Amino acid sequence: MTVEYSKGLEGVIADETSISNVEGDIGRLSYRGYPIEQLVQQPFTRVVWLVLFGELATPEEEVRLQQYLQRNGALSASEIATLKSLPRELHSMRMLQSMIPMLDTRPVGPQELPFTNAEGYRGLSIVAKIPTLLATFRRLQVADEVPVYDADKQYLANFLTMFHNKPASPEHVHCLARLQILQLEHSFNAGTFTCRVTASTLAPVESALSSAVGSLYGTLHGGADEAALNEAIKVGSPDKARAYVLDLLANKGRLMGMGHREYKKLDPRAAILKPMAETLCKGTDFENVFMTLKEIEKEFNAEMQKKGKEVWANLEFYKGPVNLAIGIPATYFTAGFAMARSVGWLAHVLESRIDNRIMRPSALYTGPAIRSL
Ligand code: ACO
Repeated sequence: MTVEYSKGLEGVIADETSISNVEGDIGRLSYRGYPIEQLVQQPFTRVVWLVLFGELATPEEEVRLQQYLQRNGALSASEIATLKSLPRELHSMRMLQSMIPMLDTRPVGPQELPFTNAEGYRGLSIVAKIPTLLATFRRLQVADEVPVYDADKQYLANFLTMFHNKPASPEHVHCLARLQILQLEHSFNAGTFTCRVTASTLAPVESALSSAVGSLYGTLHGGADEAALNEAIKVGSPDKARAYVLDLLANKGRLMGMGHREYKKLDPRAAILKPMAETLCKGTDFENVFMTLKEIEKEFNAEMQKKGKEVWANLEFYKGPVNLAIGIPATYFTAGFAMARSVGWLAHVLESRIDNRIMRPSALYTGPAIRSL
């Protein structure tokens, strides 16, 4: 008897969600009903509030959210000591996955947000501390120094200022805000599913977010951002793109930043990032890498069309030049992604708590029949 199963859980609906909707057949992404093209024009904390609480924040609600993030983003002396004790060459994603469960997540200051339980505040404390973890580890790596945490500075401006140890330009902060909004949430992708599986065992929010970071790190998922950039650097220049694509496909390789389980059209996030990358890179050191990616995309699309396959650029493909233009190096691309996605993960943990059932699929056993020792 043949038993049907879905490898990679393709097409399996594992639960309900009202946080975001991926309509892959028409290439549309929306958070709580608002299309991403509109949300990317909004202030960052307004969209964070939307993802967490379901409606766009009023200006007064936005201030309360900002204040919570600013009050709760500082690292304690022992958290800094733990960071200092890590090997400096550790990848930022391994650092992040290890550090999250060890954070002191008890809320600092007033608790005036519409969370219905204490776990919401603890999760938001993780969101608040991730930028400081990334910036501090980066400063330790490059200059053996610990940046000053300024609780009067807004979340993203503070992150860029600490990361570079110099004041961030408003243009870079604006660009980072758009990038973060695009990465905030994406339904039941592998990282979020991992998060929900962990949460479904009633493990705490700290464990759920840490496990999601581990899942996001892989190159078939969030890690494709760093891999796509490295690929373009390896190709070197636009004129070498065609030969590279043909060789890769002839060897049954995977082009990083291309393809998606859900999207059968261009990923709407890639459609927003491409012109952003083009504008940011024009006349800079990063123009060549952008032009190389553009040519790789053109050649790859042409080959896929010939084969009748719907494999298009995803979120990861043009993220590299945007990150580079605001001073984020490749080894921090995926961690910057996790920083944004931590908001979506928290929303999913809280949503799953409303009507929880442990996630426990079955497997088709293919090992030996019962035998005796
Ligand atoms: N390069 C070359 N061919 C590809 C690619 C690619 N990047 N992606 C899909 N294909 C082809 C496959 O070879 C396959 O062809 P076949 O039907 O002839 O065997 C077909 O398209 C379907 O691919 P699957 O592997 O079945 O698609 P799946 O849904 O399992 O995988 C995934 C999706 C993992 C994203 C895949 O497209 C991939 O490996 N992409 C590269 C890595 C990447 O960019 N990941 C980031 C995704 S976005 C995100 O996670 C935030």
